[in-house]
Amino acid sequence: MKRTRLFSTALAAAMALGLAACGGGSGAGEAPSDGAKAGGADGAKMRLSINQTEEHPSTIALEDFSERLAKATEDRWTVDVYPNETLGAQQESLQMVSNGSVDLAIVSGTQLENLNKDFAVFNMPLAFDNVEHQMKVIQSEEVVGELFTSLEDSQKLTVLGGFTQGARHVYTTDAPVKTPADLAGKKLRVQESDLHLAMAKALGAEGTPMAYGEVYTGLQSGVLDAAENNEVSYYTVKHFEVAPYFSKTNHLVGLDYLIINTERLNSMSEEDRQVFLDEWKATMDYHVKLWDEKTQEAIKQAEAGGATFSEVDAAAFADALSGLKDQFLTEDSQKALWDATRELA
Ligand code: GCU
Repeated sequence: MKRTRLFSTALAAAMALGLAACGGGSGAGEAPSDGAKAGGADGAKMRLSINQTEEHPSTIALEDFSERLAKATEDRWTVDVYPNETLGAQQESLQMVSNGSVDLAIVSGTQLENLNKDFAVFNMPLAFDNVEHQMKVIQSEEVVGELFTSLEDSQKLTVLGGFTQGARHVYTTDAPVKTPADLAGKKLRVQESDLHLAMAKALGAEGTPMAYGEVYTGLQSGVLDAAENNEVSYYTVKHFEVAPYFSKTNHLVGLDYLIINTERLNSMSEEDRQVFLDEWKATMDYHVKLWDEKTQEAIKQAEAGGATFSEVDAAAFADALSGLKDQFLTEDSQKALWDATRELA
């Protein structure tokens, strides 16, 4: 069976650390967080940070992962899932995984774009045609192998794959949007990313970067006129209550990543790491199944709560966003990643 690059890299590093540990070395191989057993190999109680609610499909899939992992490793490796930004918003969570105070986190692609510009390719409108295409890309070792290990040396972060964010759409507090002209001068919340700030501008809006957990109050208080997200988030964090006009702009298919502290990953024995990676792969598959069902449910529930969903002039949106690619994907590595992504469409 072909070993993935991620697996081989992790394995090589684990072997190196193992040797250091035999020689009485400490530090790099020590399990980084509270309650963990130093030196790895036998297990640890890991913590995972996510900014979604308990009813969001990503949290549901992770709780299921946690149960399966504990069972498969006879409780040696466990994952406690902390939802609702209780351990911090995504920017903080990223830092905490990097310094080892938290083991794992789900972060949006926009966060990783700030550490390696190649990640911007996957945050680009029109990169992915749909969820199926996106999953094909992120599960292609050939396409993402290097990208997903690119932050190991500098940040001690390993990307293990991800969950779809589905298609993202714009929603507003006052009236539905049909064309980008309807967004003129509107304060549109975006994630903390230069690309998405430029995306807001290309749509004629005033981009306002902000953490996820602040958006509800932003919309409610009038600091924001609009935000953009998928139906599931729109419903689960209740943005529909304060921005009831959901317009199906379908401007990009977003991506969340599972990141793990690289030393933590490398501290697992070869067998346990394989179990961990297998259970995680099953979790990604489960999430894809949940996603569609939860999206339909979210639409129904948001409608019952007073939201309206409307169609837009799709060509006008695609046209407004078409220049972003040449503006942002300027490096050869970005262009190569873009081409490889589009080839799998
Ligand atoms: C989605 C995504 C999150 C992200 C959020 C946002 O909900 O799954 O990872 O943080 O959008 O817009 O900030």
